[in-house]
Amino acid sequence: MGDLSGAVSAGEVVVVGEPLRSLAARYGLAWRAEPPAEGLALRQGEAGLEIAGDPALYGHPVRADFVSGAADHRRRFGGGRGQLVAKACGFGKGVVPQVVDATAGLGRDAFVLASLGAEVLMVERVAAIHALLDDALARLAVADELGEIAARLALRHADGTTALADAIADWPHAPQVIHLDPMFPHREKSALVKKEMRLFRELAGADDDAPQLLAAALDLATHRVVVKRPRKAPPIAGPAPQHVIEGKTSRYDLYVRRSLRTDAASP
Ligand SMILES: C[S@@+](CC[C@H](N)C(=O)[O-])C[C@H]1O[C@@H](n2cnc3c(N)ncnc32)[C@H](O)[C@@H]1O
Repeated sequence: MGDLSGAVSAGEVVVVGEPLRSLAARYGLAWRAEPPAEGLALRQGEAGLEIAGDPALYGHPVRADFVSGAADHRRRFGGGRGQLVAKACGFGKGVVPQVVDATAGLGRDAFVLASLGAEVLMVERVAAIHALLDDALARLAVADELGEIAARLALRHADGTTALADAIADWPHAPQVIHLDPMFPHREKSALVKKEMRLFRELAGADDDAPQLLAAALDLATHRVVVKRPRKAPPIAGPAPQHVIEGKTSRYDLYVRRSLRTDAASP
């Protein structure tokens, strides 16, 4: 685990069940033998660690999953290097970037990048979300034919705003690309916000410190910082991006320090 100083702990989440007692202690999270009547519970589900709350409010339990469902489908049929995230991170002829995903979340973007061959360091500051990622990585490591992808994914529990350099320090690769996908600004149409997103917001907050995270990333990235934004949202406050790559619902703002292509071409 990386530097936890300054890491944000999860809002209301309570770790539930005797087998997870030591996990709660490790993360400094509240623990109970039985599920709480309200709020969010981090618990052992049938398919892995999950966070669950009142289904009427939060829908299905949330877990990170690299092996089945949407991640598996996207790995096999998702468009490979043509995907927006791959283009933004600079995959190209002879270029396979080394990427720090400093807003790992459920690891979906990180998994796409690692599936395409990139070494990826995931950094997540919310303890309960980090625990989901850790659990999903362990399942990936023992999945048939996917161990190779697991070997390219590393994980740290740290706040990228205050401790990104420490989190990267013992990663044996260069932070060529730093990928940021902070929570989108809260919009008024909250009735339309998906239930999973509601749960995530409760755990992770609104990521109002995204400008500081961008500044930290710009200090450390050797080649580029890429930021996922809603299509119409303004860029994160700070220096203007040099390039923008538009997708159907989101876009990437690119802050380029030097070309990945030139480096790949040099001996
Ligand atoms: C929108 S989600 C990212 C989703 C992710 N791209 C995926 O594919 O699953 C944002 C995540 O970034 C995390 N985060 C935001 N700011 C962070 C920071 N400064 N350091 C570490 N994690 C951060 C939040 O806790 C949340 O889990």
